[in-house]
Amino acid sequence: KQRLVIVGAGSTYTLGMIMSLVKEKENFPLKSLIFYDIDAERQERVAKATEVILKEKYPELEEFKYTTDKEEAFKDVDFAFIQIRTGGLKMREKDEKISLKNGVVGQETCGPGGMAYGMRSIPDMIELIKDIRKHSPNAWILNYTNPAAIVAEALRRVFPNDKKILNICDMPAAIMVSYAKILGKEIWDLVPEYFGLNHFGWFTKIYDKEGNDLTDELKDHILNKGFLPEDAEIANDQSWIKTFKQVEVMLRDFPEYLPNTYMQYYLYPQKMVEKEDPNYTRANQVMDGREKRVKELCKTLIENQTTEGAHLEPDIHGRYMIRVAASLAYNNGDIFIVIVENNGIISNLPDDAMVEVPAMITNHGPKPFAVGKIPTFYKGLIEGQLAYEKLVVDAFFENDYDKALKALTLNRTVVNAPVARKILDELIEANKEYWPEL
Ligand code: G6P
Ligand code: MN
Repeated sequence: KQRLVIVGAGSTYTLGMIMSLVKEKENFPLKSLIFYDIDAERQERVAKATEVILKEKYPELEEFKYTTDKEEAFKDVDFAFIQIRTGGLKMREKDEKISLKNGVVGQETCGPGGMAYGMRSIPDMIELIKDIRKHSPNAWILNYTNPAAIVAEALRRVFPNDKKILNICDMPAAIMVSYAKILGKEIWDLVPEYFGLNHFGWFTKIYDKEGNDLTDELKDHILNKGFLPEDAEIANDQSWIKTFKQVEVMLRDFPEYLPNTYMQYYLYPQKMVEKEDPNYTRANQVMDGREKRVKELCKTLIENQTTEGAHLEPDIHGRYMIRVAASLAYNNGDIFIVIVENNGIISNLPDDAMVEVPAMITNHGPKPFAVGKIPTFYKGLIEGQLAYEKLVVDAFFENDYDKALKALTLNRTVVNAPVARKILDELIEANKEYWPEL
């Protein structure tokens, strides 16, 4: 049985994670669950609601506690799940608005928003990893913190010998939930072939566990009947419905592979800008939607002291992370798409790229499968994006304005150098509490 700490437990994703831990308790049984957050009040509300859920649905759990003390939180854990957001949704809103007002994609991980958020996340992530390692030298650290690509690159540089940090994104899994629905299967029955960078990749094949190739059936369905989100958490969200619909559009233009939904921002940046309202962005939608909804849900749970009548469901975000953790803990050898150092996996990309690919997950960590050479179009796209990611991390560690400017100029959502400079200057101003001085 495992001891798990959730870092950033005040998040509105935590209740979904708890329901997922309940759902997955046979695969990943817990002895102890600990919450850690720097925001005591936000965490307490989620924790008190969690107590209600655990009392009913996880009575065998020996210990649950929440704290803002690092030593208490990180002492002798087996797993740490990290899901922090430095600067909160307030800063996400600024990133998105600065970008959109300059006619560029306003998104938390793609384009200028990704750069801004990346440079905010890096210092906190480095500090957290050091603190966790001080108290739990052998714990598996599973990181969801965004922008995962930039965070993963920074952690690779700072902790080159720490083989127990694994960066993960739930998007490929969320997409696979929709594939599974179309194919009349469960996501856990599908085996993907996939390559790319985080939020920048393609499924090349989808098989079932028996080895049948279902890719053409899937593509035909998407092209003829469309593509919708199926995970409980996102299926009712208009913004995600629109996002998933873009897969069909992308597949018509580039029918070779099945794109990650995030490719829409790089392939159709102008259209994405036109669809958005620069005065009311995704951050606003989340603040007025999920944040309020979960806050109310917590209050109701605490008041009623029962989960009866409450809308609570496991989600793929939680279940995916937990299944990866189970495979690490119990050497299951299951296959998941994760972020790892390339080292020849994609043979015509640099060894030191952090790539997102399927890997067999064992108790020695991920064993990625060889992808081989990727075709020129994808290689070209990835190389530009990779250079952007590397330059952002260089800019951070070297306090280098010119590299930040080069990064943004390379990004497909920006391209235009004077626009890159204008956005960069505005982001520097907005992020002065968080960024190093460039
Ligand atoms: C997916 C991505 C995450 C991202 C999230 C944003 O889950 O994998 O990296 O943070 O979407 O969702 P939101 O609802 O906050 O826009
Ligand atoms: Mn992600």
